[in-house]
Amino acid sequence: MIELKDNIFWVGVRDWELKRFHGEELSTHRGSTYNAYLIRDEKTVLIDTVWSPFKESWLDWLDEQVNLQTLDYVVINHSEEDHAGCLPALMEKVPHLPIYCSPHGTAAIEDHFHPESWDIRKVRTGDTLDLGRYQLQFVEMPMLHWPDSMATFVTNANILFSNDAFGQHYATSFLYNDQVDQAELYQEALKYYANILTPFSAQVKRKLNEIKQLNLPIEIIAPSHGVVWRDNPLQIVEQYNLWANDYQEKAVLILYDTMWGATRKAAEAIAAGVESQGIATKLMHVGKADQSDIITEIFKARGLIFGSPTVNDGIMSAAAGLLESIRGMRFRNKQAFAFGSYGWSGGSAGIIEQRLTEAGFEIVLEPLKWRYVPTSEVLQKAKILGTTFGEKIKE
Ligand code: FEO
Repeated sequence: MIELKDNIFWVGVRDWELKRFHGEELSTHRGSTYNAYLIRDEKTVLIDTVWSPFKESWLDWLDEQVNLQTLDYVVINHSEEDHAGCLPALMEKVPHLPIYCSPHGTAAIEDHFHPESWDIRKVRTGDTLDLGRYQLQFVEMPMLHWPDSMATFVTNANILFSNDAFGQHYATSFLYNDQVDQAELYQEALKYYANILTPFSAQVKRKLNEIKQLNLPIEIIAPSHGVVWRDNPLQIVEQYNLWANDYQEKAVLILYDTMWGATRKAAEAIAAGVESQGIATKLMHVGKADQSDIITEIFKARGLIFGSPTVNDGIMSAAAGLLESIRGMRFRNKQAFAFGSYGWSGGSAGIIEQRLTEAGFEIVLEPLKWRYVPTSEVLQKAKILGTTFGEKIKE
């Protein structure tokens, strides 16, 4: 156990091996942590559990530290498996333990674990639970990132247990934000926001305002993944404010897939045009690059240029899968256009343009398409399109 403040401990698990999360959807290059916390006061309370694959080792270890029978309450800020996954095993050992959760948490816990007789108590924003010296104050956080999400503030210690919000998939041997490489930390915090919270940016904005109105004297923000923010903890709140407000950098991302290099040639010519306008330009091969990293780069970019060859009257499968992910992200205020080669029947650029339109992108240039290998004229046109796009991004 690592003590954050008097008798308040981190009791989580570091998962150095984790490479994929949410099934296989999200890459986690630096592993992750599942942060649970324990408060020992006149009442002893556990804040969240850890992912179920760790249940035996974690519960045995926690029992040695604290004796599970001495727990008075468990708070489940969020019912997803990585935080509530050990709840059934815990409840087997301590069957009468009261569980505190948000109103949506009740149904979510029941629908996940199908309990028969657990003592589940719903709490709303502003509800409190006295522990003795400390008091818990609950804050509903719907859609950050599930309906049941909740944060728990500890008065007198001034710690906000924020659950997924402000987290990072980042395993380190250190607990606090000031102890780790800042570039790594912010890369992981940004990737987490871009991939998990982007669709809910409107709710994030509203919730950040509500939390501000609560005037909580926050000294530490302790999320359920990654490091704890103790050095200037509000820096990550300010960063979320930026990210939630249609954050973008003056940059262009060019995504392409290619079978024999024709679409890549056009991508490189387009890039030369964009770069001629002094715009930061990045090219990523959608069949080779990591999809979560691509989503992070789209999140940052003001402009997206997307290309694929035509295959069987459609587009290449990696491009199609990525476009489905992009659709769900609900990106806003981004400009785009499409390109792609064809052989005997065209269509890839039109398909991409349609999918980007459906995903909320503003299509600012006609698609570029050509038969088989691009001629020097096509490449010249590609460069001109890139230049024009770069001019628009500069505006
Ligand atoms: Fe929504 Fe970390 O689980």
